[in-house]
Amino acid sequence: MIDFKTSITVPKIDWAPHLAALSAAQMNGWTTIQPPDPRLEDYAAQIKKNAEVLVVIGIGGSFLGAKALLDAIPRASKTEVIFAGTSLSPLEMSQKLAELGDRDFCINVISKSGGTLETNLAFDVFYQKLHQKYGTDASQRVYATTGRSGALFQLASDNHWSWLEIPDNVGGRYSVLTSVGLLPLAVGGVNITELLNGAKNYAADISKALDYAAFRIHLHSQGYLAEALATFEPELHFLAEWWKQLFGESEGKNHLGLLPTSLTYSTDLHSLGQFIQEGNPKAFETFLEIAPTASNIKIQGVKGLEGKDLATVNAAALRATVAAHATVRPIAEIQLPSRTAADFGAFLYFCFIAASMSAFALGLNPFNQPGVEVYKSNLQKLLGLA
Ligand code: PA5
Repeated sequence: MIDFKTSITVPKIDWAPHLAALSAAQMNGWTTIQPPDPRLEDYAAQIKKNAEVLVVIGIGGSFLGAKALLDAIPRASKTEVIFAGTSLSPLEMSQKLAELGDRDFCINVISKSGGTLETNLAFDVFYQKLHQKYGTDASQRVYATTGRSGALFQLASDNHWSWLEIPDNVGGRYSVLTSVGLLPLAVGGVNITELLNGAKNYAADISKALDYAAFRIHLHSQGYLAEALATFEPELHFLAEWWKQLFGESEGKNHLGLLPTSLTYSTDLHSLGQFIQEGNPKAFETFLEIAPTASNIKIQGVKGLEGKDLATVNAAALRATVAAHATVRPIAEIQLPSRTAADFGAFLYFCFIAASMSAFALGLNPFNQPGVEVYKSNLQKLLGLA
């Protein structure tokens, strides 16, 4: 069970109207956890049989959730999952191609709209490579996850690629528990049944997620500008990236919202820790804590710590940091009992509720992102595409 606590007293919010708004929203398809598409396990098995590497091509909500969970959940798979199309950097693209090398591979191209530039360009590059390697059999190695309309859907139909649907009523940043996240996760060895069950069980009691939203909204009303999600595991870096997208795009509009940022400790205690302890106080900190498990890395030669497990020291650093930072700014703690797929499933749902309720409480639509269109239309003009 997820626990949530705060260092301050938070006024109660009447969530009933906001929960009613969520029930009435067109884009609330994620609120009911659906079983995986019946084809998904077969597709995952085919990929694992035929490929040493699955190249997942997508950006934003079409990549962050799967990447976050593959990093966070202990797992094993003979097929490596790598991600491409997450930038327009030629250097990164070359590195991804080099990382793939001559290994057997399949592609999972993911885009709800089918019109995202980064995704389309990376797909172009990797599809050329697929075609060079497998000739006319290349088509059997492409898995397209997309909406029921749009350019990618059309391409998938024309080329007879395997296809998984992104439901119309689930937006990108709320889509990790659909085929968007589930195919890469299944290939990567994550137990997707456990993941979905964890989310479904959490949906039965969302009270802690509402407490988290109330904490955030209270601080927003007090003039706080930013929230930092702090973790003590570098493996949670992409989970924090996923969280940033979810909250940033859900509530960063109409000149409102909290700037979501993240801190990876203890690394950042030696850089931004200074700012958090003594800098501008108008940012608060939310710790994402996972109950420590013994690491079997035992300290031998550091005086006073002989025989201690490194995990114990990391856990002590967390307690020391919470105590230090709580003296200067509001602190919240989200506590997960373990690193299982079920607990991360619960965490995803917890965040979906907290992000959407925060946005509704600010009078915003959590499910659109009109601000990202401005740069897109500038880019289209600069490239002569519009
Ligand atoms: O949350 C969102 O909707 C966005 O961040 C999208 O996930 C992102 O822009 C990618 O879009 P698409 O899946 O259409 O390629």
